[in-house]
Amino acid sequence: MDVMKISGGIPLKGTVRTQGAKNAALPVMAACLLLRGCRMTLDNVPGLHDVETMMALLRSLGVDVARTGDRVVFDVPGEVAWEASEHLVRKMRASSLVLGPLLARCGRAVLPLPGGCSIGSRPIDLHLKGLTQMGARVEIKNGFVYAQADRLRGRRIYLDFPSVGATENLMMAAVFARGETIIENTAREPEIENLAEVLRNMGVRVDTEGTGCVRIRGVDGVHDCSARVIPDRIEACTYVLAGVMTGGDITVEEIIPDHIDALLAKLEEAGASFSVKPNSVAVHPVKKLRQVSIRTMPFPGFPTDLQPQMVAALTLSSGVSLVEESVFQSRFLYAAELNRMGADVAIRGDTAVIRGVDGLDGASVRATDLRAGAALILAGLAARGQTCIENMEHVFRGYEAIDLKLKTLGADVSLDMGAETR
Ligand code: UD1
Repeated sequence: MDVMKISGGIPLKGTVRTQGAKNAALPVMAACLLLRGCRMTLDNVPGLHDVETMMALLRSLGVDVARTGDRVVFDVPGEVAWEASEHLVRKMRASSLVLGPLLARCGRAVLPLPGGCSIGSRPIDLHLKGLTQMGARVEIKNGFVYAQADRLRGRRIYLDFPSVGATENLMMAAVFARGETIIENTAREPEIENLAEVLRNMGVRVDTEGTGCVRIRGVDGVHDCSARVIPDRIEACTYVLAGVMTGGDITVEEIIPDHIDALLAKLEEAGASFSVKPNSVAVHPVKKLRQVSIRTMPFPGFPTDLQPQMVAALTLSSGVSLVEESVFQSRFLYAAELNRMGADVAIRGDTAVIRGVDGLDGASVRATDLRAGAALILAGLAARGQTCIENMEHVFRGYEAIDLKLKTLGADVSLDMGAETR
C-alpha cells in the first residue's frame, strides 16, 4: 500500500503545469488498433498507472509501444489479437475501449465484462446496443462479451444517455463501417473532440458539431498519424481547488479555459476569484467560500470527476451546500473519510449535504477511488496537523507526480511507497 503524509495548513504558492488528460489519452491509444502496418505518434501522454495499463493491453494484442519522455510511438502490425486480457480489463474499466476498434478491424473481439467499481455498477449496455445496431452479433457468456461482424454497417444510432465511453467505442467502430454512421445524443466532453481529431489525422472524415451529434464516413483503410493529448481539465481543476482551499496564490498553466468553466463559475459564485488567460488560470487568495448548490452533469455541466474535490472544498465554506450526483450511483464513499477529519457531510440519497466547519484536522484516512483520493489530499492540505492517506495507488491512476507538484507549490508532503497495511 502507498501512503501520502501531509502536514497541512500551508498556503500554496507558485506555478504548476497541467499533465496530458488521462481520459483523452486512453481512447486515443485504443484507436491505434485501427492501424495496419502503420504508426501512431502521440505527444503529451501523461505518466499514469492507467496509461501503463492501456500500454500493457495494447502490447498484449501485438502492438509495439515505445515511450520517450511524454511521446509514445505505437507500431501496429498487419495482424493483431482480438481477445483482451481479463487481468488488464479487471484492472481498468477503460480497457473496454478496445472493443470498438478490435471489432472494426478484426471482424471479431472478445472482452471480459468490466464489472462494477466503487463508484457504481457501470454497465456497457449502450456500447453493445450501438454495435448491435451496426450489425454486430453480440453475445454475453460466462462474463465475456463475444462480438462478431464481417463488416459493420453505418447507421443512425441514438444514445439513451450521452455516455463518454459508448460515444468513443462507437466512433472507433464506425471507422471501417460501410457508409455513414450518425451517432446522436453523444457525449460532448472535450476528450471526444481529441479522439475525433486523431481519427481525422488517420484519414477518416469525422464531423462533430459540438451539439451532441457525430457523423463518421466509413473508409477502407487508414494511415500513419500523429497527435497531441489535450490538457487534463480534472487535474488542472484539482490544483485550482488546492489553491482555493489553502488560501493560496497559485497559477495553473497549460489549460483550456472553456474546459474548466463549470468549476470556475461555481467557485466564483462561492466568492473565489481568478485571472484567466488563454493558457493559464491564476487563483487569488480567498478567506472563506460561501455555500453553493451543484448538480453533476455531462459536459458542459459540472463534472462528476470533480464532485469529491468540490465537496472537500465546501466542507470549509460558510452555510450549507448541497451537491447532487446525477451521473454515478455511489460516488460518496469518501464522505465518511472527510468526516474523520472533522468535516460535516451527510449523504441523503444522491445528494451530499455539507455543513461548513471552521477547520479540518489531520487524520488517517483511506482513498476509496481515484477522485476520492484527490479530495482527501485537498482536505489534508487545508487541515491542521498531519493527514495520512492510505491506498494512494488509486490516485496514481490519474495524477502524475502529484507529490512533486505539490512540493513545488510549497506543500509539506511525503510518500511512503509499499507501506504496511493498517
Ligand atoms: C468516463 C470517464 C470517467 C468519468 C465519466 C463521466 C474515461 C476513461 N472515464 O467514464 O472518468 O467519470 O466518463 O464523465 O473517460 N452507462 C450506462 N451504460 C453504458 C455506459 C454508461 O448505463 O453502456 C452509465 C454509467 O453507469 C454512468 C453514466 O452512464 O452512470 C456515465 O458513464 P460514461 O459516460 O459511460 O462514463 P465512462 O465512459 O465509463
